Amino acid sequence: MAGYKIAILISGRGSNMAALIEACQTEGFPAKVALVLSNRPNAPGLTLAQAAKIPTRIIQHGEFESREAFDAVMTEALTDAGVRLICLAGFMRLLSAEFCQHWRDSIINIHPSLLPAFKGLRVHERMLDAGVQIAGCTVHYVRPAMDEGPILVQAAVPIAADDTPDSLAARILEQEHLIYPMAVRMIAEGRARPAGGMVAIKNYNLPAQSLINPPLA
Ligand code: GRF
Repeated sequence: MAGYKIAILISGRGSNMAALIEACQTEGFPAKVALVLSNRPNAPGLTLAQAAKIPTRIIQHGEFESREAFDAVMTEALTDAGVRLICLAGFMRLLSAEFCQHWRDSIINIHPSLLPAFKGLRVHERMLDAGVQIAGCTVHYVRPAMDEGPILVQAAVPIAADDTPDSLAARILEQEHLIYPMAVRMIAEGRARPAGGMVAIKNYNLPAQSLINPPLA
């Protein structure tokens, strides 16, 4: 099962990518990173991937006439690499309906909120403005509409009264780095699959504790 090849698509920093690479390099992890693909040549994540000796490709969206043409070249690169699962990790491009259909149920994304709340951008700032007490992050299968699709894993994260968008983002990011590798593991082991609008997951125990914020006295 270590032959289960994944690709990671990035546009920037690549901390989730790094968490996935590290997990895949752990003894016994059922997947391996076959390709890191960036649409931006200067994405800092590319340097991290190269240092970890992962094959990288840069495909710049600006060089293509249409989203479809860009996506078709990505599909070619992903197919050549023998990829079975595509992990979006801070990939800042919308994918065409054709690409989503071609790779249906083989693309996942991580988003820094408890979806379906707070889709889109500036999520941390918007959560603070809304005054919610519990934030979080979500790994989900990708559908053509942004930040939509069957949910694989979520982590709930408490918000502090003095949080700034940056402090909240850092607290959520720690959980992102835990749940993204976990989601990949569940898929590579064949324990998770989309079923209707939801994800069916085999063999797990419901956590005994709930997160209450502010906590019970
Ligand atoms: C993360 O917050 C992720 O949830 C969102 O984009 C950010 C990417 O950060 N989709 P990084 O590049 O993985 O550090």
